[in-house]
Amino acid sequence: MKFTRRGFLAGVGAVGAVETARAAAGGVSEKTHDPNLMVFISDIHQLDNTVRWPNGPTQANDILPKLVKEILSLRTLPANAVVFGDFSASSGWVEDFRLAAAALKPFSDAGITLTLGMGNHDNRHSFMQVFPEYKSRLLVPGRIVSKVSTPNADLILLDTLKSREGEDWAEPNGKGSHVEGAMDDTQREWLADTLAAAARPTFLGAHHPAGEAGIVKEAVTAKSVFGYIFGHRHVVEEGFLHYGYGDSRTVQTATLPSAGYWGDIGYAFFKTFEDRAELTVRQTDFFFNRLWAEKPRPKSWLERVRMHNGRKTTFWYDKPDNYYQG
Ligand SMILES: [Fe+2]
Repeated sequence: MKFTRRGFLAGVGAVGAVETARAAAGGVSEKTHDPNLMVFISDIHQLDNTVRWPNGPTQANDILPKLVKEILSLRTLPANAVVFGDFSASSGWVEDFRLAAAALKPFSDAGITLTLGMGNHDNRHSFMQVFPEYKSRLLVPGRIVSKVSTPNADLILLDTLKSREGEDWAEPNGKGSHVEGAMDDTQREWLADTLAAAARPTFLGAHHPAGEAGIVKEAVTAKSVFGYIFGHRHVVEEGFLHYGYGDSRTVQTATLPSAGYWGDIGYAFFKTFEDRAELTVRQTDFFFNRLWAEKPRPKSWLERVRMHNGRKTTFWYDKPDNYYQG
């Protein structure tokens, strides 16, 4: 596989410019944080197989720290790192969350604020045991919903974890959660009120696609929502939301790679500007299961990495009225 880290970073706009400046200066200078720059990470799937599932997949335990280290090597760091769920490889066991916390700690040590969301492999009880300080960030009762703001825009990270009935805050019992996503009525009502009052460009983030979360209409009709970003699928792609063929409004979407489990492997930068935001994918690998760890990649897989690495999706703050009703 042929790509260079410097070549990728040169494609990340301001980040690349700073990286070049660092190289010219010999690489010795203090790091700064860009308040408009975030890094998006999803599907980190950690597994502590010394506690449970001894033969389970642990490749993400090795890959995630490497990706974190690469991000922290930037001269200008993102002010925020956002995790779009699936901390655990299994059923949200607390030891998996502890591994995840250790892998993400270098971000906090570097002054980067962590914003964390739930995926279908997670468990809210385990999450709060390991990240108790996150309680002050929660915006919706009983759900891991939080907001992160840049000077130019807001990101609302929703909770689309659909627990088995009656187990929202219980210890995981091995059944796990439903694979598909969902949002409860309390969260849905909070979101409707929040979007109705939103005066700044707003992005919605979640583990699951908007259709599974049941919020396509909310995202499309809210005047201030200009993007929906999610993980879950481990596949880098872009798309759009719309609400019926009689409505001309659309919302740009992007799906994030997995930070180390299977499929498209990597992370993404998200930079907000006064008139738009840009999501730039960093893809480092593709594989389909853990047995590929040491094997040469077929050409089709290498091509996939080449196609995605450095790919940019632009989210303009520009949503017309529904002119079919005008
Ligand atoms: Fe996942």
